[in-house]
Amino acid sequence: MKLVAGNWKMFKGPAETVAFLDELEPPAGVEIVVCPAFASLAVAVGRGLPVYAQNVHWAEQGAFTGEVSAPMLRELGVEGAIVGHSERRQLFAETDETVRMRCAAALEAGLRVIACVGETEAEREAGETDAVLRRQVAAIPRHDALVIAYEPVWAIGTGKTATPELAQQAHETIKELHDTRVLYGGSVKPENAAELLTQPAVDGALVGGASLEPESFAAICRAAT
Ligand code: PGA
Repeated sequence: MKLVAGNWKMFKGPAETVAFLDELEPPAGVEIVVCPAFASLAVAVGRGLPVYAQNVHWAEQGAFTGEVSAPMLRELGVEGAIVGHSERRQLFAETDETVRMRCAAALEAGLRVIACVGETEAEREAGETDAVLRRQVAAIPRHDALVIAYEPVWAIGTGKTATPELAQQAHETIKELHDTRVLYGGSVKPENAAELLTQPAVDGALVGGASLEPESFAAICRAAT
C-alpha cells in the first residue's frame, strides 16, 4: 500500500486543523498521515488519521528552548515525525548528524519516521546528486518504522516537479543504499500524482502545498490507491 503524508508546514492552527479533518474524505487502500504544526497536534490526534510531527529533538528532555521531545509527542498520541526536511536543513542549520540523532531518538521512543533527503538545484547542476544522496542516506538509521522521502530541493514549493523518470532514478539510487520505502516530495499535485505514484520505486508521496485543501489532498490520496 502507498503512503501519502501531508506536511502542513507552518499553516493551520487548531481550528483550521479540526475543520480540515472534519471535511476530508480519505479513500481506502492508501495509508494517509497528516503532519500539523506542533500547536495543532493535540487536536488532530484521535480524528481518524495517524498524526506525525514535523520535527523532533534527540534528547528526552533538557535545556533546549523551542524544541519538543519524542516522549512528549508519544504522550500526545502522535505516531511519528518528519525529520531532516530541507527547510530545516536550509533555514535551521540541520545537518546529517542532527538528522541522524533525531531519527535515532524518535525510533527509540517508538515513533515512526519520515526522513527527508534531496539535492539542491546547484548540486544537481554540478552533477553531485548521487554523492549528496549517498551522504544524506548514510546518516539515516535502518529501521522498520522508518521511510525516506526524496525531495529534490529545487522542486519544493516551486511548481517544478521531478519527471517521473527522474524520481524513479533517484529512488532506485536510494533503495540501493537503504532497504526502505521511499516517498517522493516536491510540488506533488492532483494533476501529476498518478504519473509519479505509478513509478515502481515510488512508494508514496510527501505533499506540502497541495495537502492544505481537503479536496486536493484527497485527490492525491485517491491517485495512490
Ligand atoms: P510542496 O512541499 O509539495 O509544497 O512542494 C513538499 C514538502 O516540502 O514536503
